[in-house]
Amino acid sequence: MNYLDPLENTSDQLFEYIRVPPARDVPGLEEDARRGLLSQPRSLPPKYFYDDCGTELFEKICKTSEYYPTRTEDFLLKRHAKDIIETAKPNNIFELGSGSSTKTQRLLDACSEIAHFPSYTAFDISERALMFGGIELSKRYDWLQISLLLGDYEAGFMNVPRENGSRLVLFLGSTIGNFEQKHAIQFMKDLRNNMSQTDRLLVGFDRVKDRHILDAAYNDSQGITAAFNLNVLNVLNSELGANFEPENFSHLAQYDADKAQIEMHLVSSCAQRVMLNNLREFIDMDAGERIQTEISRKFTDQSLTRLLSDSGFVVEKDFVSPDKYFSLVLAQPI
Ligand code: SAH
Ligand code: AVI
Repeated sequence: MNYLDPLENTSDQLFEYIRVPPARDVPGLEEDARRGLLSQPRSLPPKYFYDDCGTELFEKICKTSEYYPTRTEDFLLKRHAKDIIETAKPNNIFELGSGSSTKTQRLLDACSEIAHFPSYTAFDISERALMFGGIELSKRYDWLQISLLLGDYEAGFMNVPRENGSRLVLFLGSTIGNFEQKHAIQFMKDLRNNMSQTDRLLVGFDRVKDRHILDAAYNDSQGITAAFNLNVLNVLNSELGANFEPENFSHLAQYDADKAQIEMHLVSSCAQRVMLNNLREFIDMDAGERIQTEISRKFTDQSLTRLLSDSGFVVEKDFVSPDKYFSLVLAQPI
């Protein structure tokens, strides 16, 4: 992916670009590292994957033959885009964790086709992903008014600018699966409280399936997922003054069928001391010791319906892919 420098592109009026101030306090990297790395079991929240390099690696993961979620959700979007737009009739399409907004084009194509012209707002923590998406969309859709919001969606939606009329909120890619159940409900409730009755939510859910397919998706043969996972150590080195040596760690991702989730770890390959200079701390890791970097939960009809209803939504349409790998759910606030 070739990104242009974000700062050079803020002035050309292709889109509005806004930094969203947090509506509530959320821990930053120092606090998350203190909480997650200094005690056992060690863990880090997945939002730290997405520096410039991590963002590019994620885009590459999406193109691997093993990582089926992106192409499957894209297929569903293409197939049902018109139905979704006609049902939601949005004045604004508002996308959380939009990344490069590539799949969003399916919905925008449907808008062009039926001559329904909403505005588009992308909200992401990765400046590079936002800029790339914004530039691509502005090239493709001359009618589209684009706003790029840089911020942490876990910091709440109170400060997110809202336009008049109804909104179609997108949360694609099964990114909801990267939250623990309680956290997912809290996040979706917060979202619900900032939506009106005429708004709609479109969420992607990766479904429970054969473990071999799941394990392969998170252990691609080119090692891109491994590089994506290990890259978080570079983030810790540059942002936290740490001295992790990525070659002293290996990627581990495996499916836990009881919990219906992929668990991704970095495993220390030797006994080692790592300095976390900005925290004035260090950690001693044994050979084989792990840092959990991500969970990726997989859903059934029951578990996705339950998550939505516990958060104040009802399923309006559930588009399931023919192979039953992925669900795209259009939900309505209750
Ligand atoms: N929706 C895209 C990208 C999914 S990857 C797709 O389906 O392919 C997850 C995206 O969420 C990344 O672009 C990442 O930068 C963003 N993200 C992760 N945590 C975030 C947070 N706390 N706040 C805002 N964006 C976040
Ligand atoms: C963004 N998220 C839904 C991806 C997933 O599948 O959980 C992130 C990812 N991790 C490894 N590969 C892809």
